[in-house]
Amino acid sequence: MVDPVVWDIGYLASAALFIVGIKRLSSPKTAPQGNRLGAYGMLLAVLVTIARMETEAPGIIGWELVAGGLIVGAIIGAWMATRVEMTGMPELVALFNGFGGGASALVALSEVLKRINSDDIPSDNVELYATWIAIGLSGLVGWLTLTGSLMAMGKLKGGFYIPFTKKDDRGRSKWINFPTWGPPWLNTVKASLLLLALFLIWMTIQDPSNKDIIYSLVAISSVLGILFVIPIGGADMPVVVSLLNSMSGIAAAFTGFVIGNNVLIIAGSMVGAAGLILTFIMCKAMNRTLAAVLFKSFGGGGKESVTRTKVGSDPEEVAMVCDGISKCVIIPGYGMAVSQAQHAVKEFADLLESEGVEVSYGIHPVAGRMPGHMNVLLAEANVPYEQLIEMDDINSELPETDVALVIGANDTVNPVARTGEGPLGGMPIIDADKARVVVIIKRSLSVGYAGVDNDLFYEDSTMMLFGDGKKMMNELNASIKEL
Ligand code: TAP
Repeated sequence: MVDPVVWDIGYLASAALFIVGIKRLSSPKTAPQGNRLGAYGMLLAVLVTIARMETEAPGIIGWELVAGGLIVGAIIGAWMATRVEMTGMPELVALFNGFGGGASALVALSEVLKRINSDDIPSDNVELYATWIAIGLSGLVGWLTLTGSLMAMGKLKGGFYIPFTKKDDRGRSKWINFPTWGPPWLNTVKASLLLLALFLIWMTIQDPSNKDIIYSLVAISSVLGILFVIPIGGADMPVVVSLLNSMSGIAAAFTGFVIGNNVLIIAGSMVGAAGLILTFIMCKAMNRTLAAVLFKSFGGGGKESVTRTKVGSDPEEVAMVCDGISKCVIIPGYGMAVSQAQHAVKEFADLLESEGVEVSYGIHPVAGRMPGHMNVLLAEANVPYEQLIEMDDINSELPETDVALVIGANDTVNPVARTGEGPLGGMPIIDADKARVVVIIKRSLSVGYAGVDNDLFYEDSTMMLFGDGKKMMNELNASIKEL
């Protein structure tokens, strides 16, 4: 018999890898290494668990099943991760969160059913309360996370398609779309269902062998997940995905208590805490409270119609403006991700630097559609990390900047936010308008995610380069080379 301390040492090593890994994620430079350390930590945790099971309860798990699960899971995971577009990353993260919550809920469910079927219900009251509360909370949070995340993924994708159905005019099979729907009474329904779910957890303790109460809890938690996400507008979805990420960690931590697995408790708590911190960072960057995100619909709804006009510039003109300048700040946004312009942006920076221009990048915390979106794209184009400057620091440099090149960003540079009014009111922005000349690359004068017109486009010091981000950057680079 192996001393149980051996398993705990293995779990401790795995938890240490998670902790160091998450610390390394805090800088773009060390993030890939942090990611790898986390993956090694998870591999170690899986191997220790399998070895422990084989030693303590041989025969419970068949090797074929474990190996089959690992191989199928690894193939699907690798296929999805390599195939996903950067713009589709939030959907993938939502799906992973949902699977995490679902896995924890299934483990908790199988544990409680196993105990009921084998008449292994704790006779000691304290143990009964502790175990059944942990099982109940794991189920509540886990099922809610699963259905809520699938709903979030569906909304981010614009719906789920039904295979083998008649194709629409864009060549896609039929889609089920999820509306953003939130009548005022929905919050009362959600609160009532939550109270009912907590009551059911209490009931499971009063009648611990009653499977019907457990199945009712599964159903109510699943409905709660759907109702929780359905009223939330598209612009708030990344915040919700981050919150669901935190909840998947919390579900895992509860499940760790249920099955007595330390690494699950540690890793789950870390995911829970990290997800919550990120949720609050995003809320702060959008100047919104978490309650406003969860209970008031915003974004993806009404959009201001643009009535003003502005004559566009051409790449040759912009190239001439960039000639002889000493400082340029590049401000990327969602449109850079859509047009995959990051390599052309890097080439532009290289061209300017070869002429002695000081180039840096102003990164807004919610530029794009997920945290760190711009950092990941620019890292892919080998932009040095030191040139990525956070909002507060770049704002102090912008008044001394000759050219601010805004590529595919809109809300994050919209000066209306300073007025404190409208959907963007109070959101901190990058002060692109303080630069001597502002060049904005986007396809039209249309609004950004929050649906608000942008005064910056119409300023005298602003030059609009209308067109696809990558195409315009390539034309601008060609014009600079010709000078
Ligand atoms: P947005 O305000 O969404 O503006 C992006 C602009 O890119 C659009 O106005 C669009 O204008 C342009 N665009 C689209 N495709 C393009 C293409 N192929 N080439 C060139 N331009 C293109 O982006 P942002 O400034 O990055 O702001 C992000 C928004 O998302 C904020 O409202 C933020 O609150 C919200 N949000 C972000 C997050 C995270 S974590 N990032 C979380 C929640 C909410 P045209 O159509 O005229 O081209």
